[in-house]
Amino acid sequence: FSPFLVDTFQRRHNYLRISLTERCNLRCFYCMPSEGVELSPRDHILTDDEVIRLAKLFVRSGVTKIRLTGGEPTVRKGLGDIVARLNGLRQLGLESVGMTSNGIALERRLPLLVENGLTHLNLSLDTLDPFKFEIMTRRRGHEAVLRCLDAALASGLQSVKLNIVVVQGLNDHEVLDFLELTRNKELSVRFIEFMPFTGNKWDKCKMVPSTQLLTRIRQRHPNIAKAPDELNDTARSYIIPGYQGSFGFISSMSDHFCSSCNRLRLTADGQIKVCLFDAKEISLRDRMRAGATDEELLQTIGFAVQGKKAKHAGMEDIDVVTNRPMILIGASVNVA
Ligand code: GTP
Ligand code: 5AD
Ligand code: SF4
Repeated sequence: FSPFLVDTFQRRHNYLRISLTERCNLRCFYCMPSEGVELSPRDHILTDDEVIRLAKLFVRSGVTKIRLTGGEPTVRKGLGDIVARLNGLRQLGLESVGMTSNGIALERRLPLLVENGLTHLNLSLDTLDPFKFEIMTRRRGHEAVLRCLDAALASGLQSVKLNIVVVQGLNDHEVLDFLELTRNKELSVRFIEFMPFTGNKWDKCKMVPSTQLLTRIRQRHPNIAKAPDELNDTARSYIIPGYQGSFGFISSMSDHFCSSCNRLRLTADGQIKVCLFDAKEISLRDRMRAGATDEELLQTIGFAVQGKKAKHAGMEDIDVVTNRPMILIGASVNVA
C-alpha cells in the first residue's frame, strides 16, 4: 500500500469515488440550487483516457474499490467503455466497480454495464410517491426508477442499495413503507441524513437524526437485529427477522464516521478532493496536462492526502459549510 494514500491519522484510502460528469437529468433540491449550477467548460472535464490513467495510478497505489458518481454517471457518453476499462484494472488489484445513479436512464444500459464489469449499484430514490418525487427532484420519472430497481435486482449485480435522503415533513413518514421493500427483495435501503451544501437550503429542522427514525422503526418492528457492518461502511445496518433485505442509516450529521474514512474523490474536472466537506481541491488534470509523470502525480495526490483533516474538513460546525453543491462533488450523487 502506497504511503501516499495514508494520511496523518493513519487512514488508508483504498476507496476512490470518480465523478464522471457534472450534469444530471434530475434537479434534486438537496443536491443543487433551483437555478442549476454553472458547468465547467467541456475541455475542463477529464477525458476517458485521463480518467483511466488516474484510476490505474490509484489502483497501483492500493485502491481496491472504485465508485462512479456524477452528477448522474449515466449521462456520460461512453460509460460502458469506462466500466470495461476499469474492469481491466482487476489484474492490478481492483476488487469492485460500483456506481451511484438516480436510475432515470439506467434500465436499458444496465445489461451492458453488468456485462462490462459493474459489480455494485446504489440507486437514489427518496420517495415511493410519484407526486412527491416531482417535488423533490423537480422532474418526472418515478416509474422509470422503480423499473430500474427491479431490473437491477435481477441483473446479477453483487449488491443493490437504495439511498433515501430523509427530509422532515417531506418523506420522513415513508420510512416504514421503504422497509417493506426489503421484505421480499434482496435490497439494502439506507436512510441518509440531509446534509448542507451550497445552495441547498439546508436547515437543521429539516434534518431527521437517525436515532429518531430507529426509535420509530422499533415501535413497529421490536425484533430488529443489528447486522454486521463492513469495515469503513458509511451505514449502520439492521435486519428485520424474516425479511430478505436489510436497512441502514447513514448518519453523516449526527454521528459522523470520519475516523474510519477511507475515501478519496476525483471530481469530473479532475480535482482531488480528500473530504466531502473540504472546499480545498488540487487539480490533477492541470498537472497531467502539463506533462506530469505518474510519480509526480502520486506526489501531488500524497500532498492532498497529507492535508486531510480529522473530521468534516476540520470544521467545528458543518451547518455553515461553503462547499460545491453536491452535484459538482459527485452526487448521484455523492458525499464522501
Ligand atoms: P457504499 O460503497 O455502498 O458504502 O457507498 P456509499 O454509501 O459510500 O456511496 P453512495 O454514493 O451511495 O452515497 C450514499 C451517501 O453516503 C451519500 O449521500 C452521503 O450521505 C454518504 N457519503 C458517501 N461518501 C461520504 C463521505 O465521504 N463523507 C460523508 N460524510 N458522507 C458520505
Ligand atoms: N444530503 C445527503 N445526501 C445527499 N445526496 C445528494 N445530496 C445530498 C445531501 N444534501 C445523496 C444522493 C445520492 C448520494 C450519492 O448522495 O441522494 O444518493
Ligand atoms: Fe438528484 Fe443525484 Fe441528480 Fe443531484 S446528481 S440532482 S441528487 S439525481
